[in-house]
Amino acid sequence: MSLDKEVTEYASKTPRSRALHEEAVAVMPGGNSRTTTFFDPYPFYFQRGQGAHIWDADGVERLDFNNNYTSLVLGHAHGDVVKAVQGVAENGLSFPGPTEHEIRLAEAITRRMPSLESLRFTNSGTEATMNAVRLARAFTGRAKIAKFEGAFHGTHDWVMVSVSPDPKAAGNRKRPKPVAWSAGIPPAVLKHVVVLPWNDQEACAEILAKDGEQIAALIVDPILCNAGLISPAEGFLPWLREETQRRGIVLIFDEVISFRVAWGGAQERFGVRPDLTTLGKVIGGGLPVGAFGGRRDIMAYYAGGVRAARRARRAAARRRLAPADGHASQGAGERRRLALLAALDDGEADRLSLGAAQGRGDAAARVHGARERGHPHDPAWPRRHRAGHQR
Ligand SMILES: Cc1ncc(COP(=O)(O)O)c(C=O)c1O
Repeated sequence: MSLDKEVTEYASKTPRSRALHEEAVAVMPGGNSRTTTFFDPYPFYFQRGQGAHIWDADGVERLDFNNNYTSLVLGHAHGDVVKAVQGVAENGLSFPGPTEHEIRLAEAITRRMPSLESLRFTNSGTEATMNAVRLARAFTGRAKIAKFEGAFHGTHDWVMVSVSPDPKAAGNRKRPKPVAWSAGIPPAVLKHVVVLPWNDQEACAEILAKDGEQIAALIVDPILCNAGLISPAEGFLPWLREETQRRGIVLIFDEVISFRVAWGGAQERFGVRPDLTTLGKVIGGGLPVGAFGGRRDIMAYYAGGVRAARRARRAAARRRLAPADGHASQGAGERRRLALLAALDDGEADRLSLGAAQGRGDAAARVHGARERGHPHDPAWPRRHRAGHQR
């Protein structure tokens, strides 16, 4: 059957979808908000789903092999999920404060993934990886991140690098150049993203030996889904674990997809304990939700604001000064900085206003969302702006 014949048959079965697409194009660029869901000549519009079946706007029934990019492990409109969502909706959907539901879900996830000693929820996998990367930077005081060529970690600038680069632009496979995946990503981002070749231990070792001291986090999708589900070579993930630990780099497992491969995700399957983990819609019955979490001392950056963050950071500095933990790989400046930080008590840190030990003050010792000074809802802020207005 030729492609033309297929397209003609598709068009004859889907006139209502075509009409809806024409309406959509008038109000949304390309007619959608999710570029990956578009295909030529126009996508069919979903009307409903049940289990593994979907029906489009023209009533055509199809078997769904995509299941919202595999996030619907229970299929469409599973009875228990529908009942749970209805129950919540009847009592109000969003509140400016915590609910018991989040505790129960956090407990269920931390039981399944022991490396998640504590976690925070987000609205998407993208926000989970964005927060994990920011947290790793806050924790280490370093600016760069490392990611693998071909890996997709969502749509914030720091990870929209070398997702599916033109090989000509990416250059040598063993030392890939960072390539922006979208217009609008500034050159400053590319300077701070180190790109690694998947499953090439020797090449990765060379790159990490050169840039390792500046890298805050190495983020890895353990089964490289975006590039077509390329499993890690035997021993590759354990080696990454050792190498990052030695160099004081936070290892982030992005398990937005790979959480499905075992009860405890790819980290259970491959026997590797990352420092941080990110999760996506699959933890919310397919609803837009995400989470990131991991080591308690790293997550402590969110717990009690500036002081807790300093304490966590000093504890990390002490650990990194221990010879078994990569001391030899640190430069003299880094060692002096860590030694000073490890020696400070809370009072001294406050007096010297060391913040994240780089002289940047309190704001640098806090990641967004922690309490204490400078919170977006601090009454000092409106006062400051009113004062400016009166002048
Ligand atoms: C490995 C991985 N990380 C992160 C994301 C981003 O998640 P979201 O689409 O919820 O923002 C995706 C999305 O498919 C993904 O596959």
